[in-house]
Amino acid sequence: MQELQFNITGGDFNQAGKASSKIKKKLKQLGIETATIKRIVVATYEAELNVVAHASSGKMIVVFEPDNIQITVTDCGQGIENIEQAMEAGFSTASKKVREMGFGAGMGLPNIKKNTDKLEIESKVGEGTTLSFRINYE
Ligand SMILES: Nc1ncnc2c1ncn2[C@@H]1O[C@H](COP(=O)(O)OP(=O)(O)OP(=O)(O)O)[C@@H](O)[C@H]1O
Ligand SMILES: [Mg+2]
Repeated sequence: MQELQFNITGGDFNQAGKASSKIKKKLKQLGIETATIKRIVVATYEAELNVVAHASSGKMIVVFEPDNIQITVTDCGQGIENIEQAMEAGFSTASKKVREMGFGAGMGLPNIKKNTDKLEIESKVGEGTTLSFRINYE
């Protein structure tokens, strides 16, 4: 078992995507199938971006198992009021600034759901959010 950890800073769109590109590199080294790498990178990128766009700070912990990858993203921030609604395609509370940068389509969480084998979300309004998901290798 191998583990990687990344800190994510809210509002820092220049750093956004760094964690997912390092994960991609690691998966290539491990010889994981391209289609599986794509699913993992979509999910980790969207999770990372959600911390940047909607939270103050966060941490991503990645655990590489022989037949799957497990990712936990914990953040401090505003939290999610209604998780069911947040999961709906097109739902977004992204600020005008975030939308002007091309984000805020409300597709991140639905894409994470689509590309993962198990997804759990816990959130407390005013405190933060924890997203955990697993992707099995083919
Ligand atoms: N880590 C988070 N902290 C607080 N709110 C979140 C977090 N992640 C998601 N949300 C809430 O859930 C909504 C939907 O998230 P989702 O990723 O699907 O869309 P988006 O981030 O608004 O847009 P996109 O991902 O398409 O750029 C967000 O607009 C926000 O209200
Ligand atoms: Mg998003």
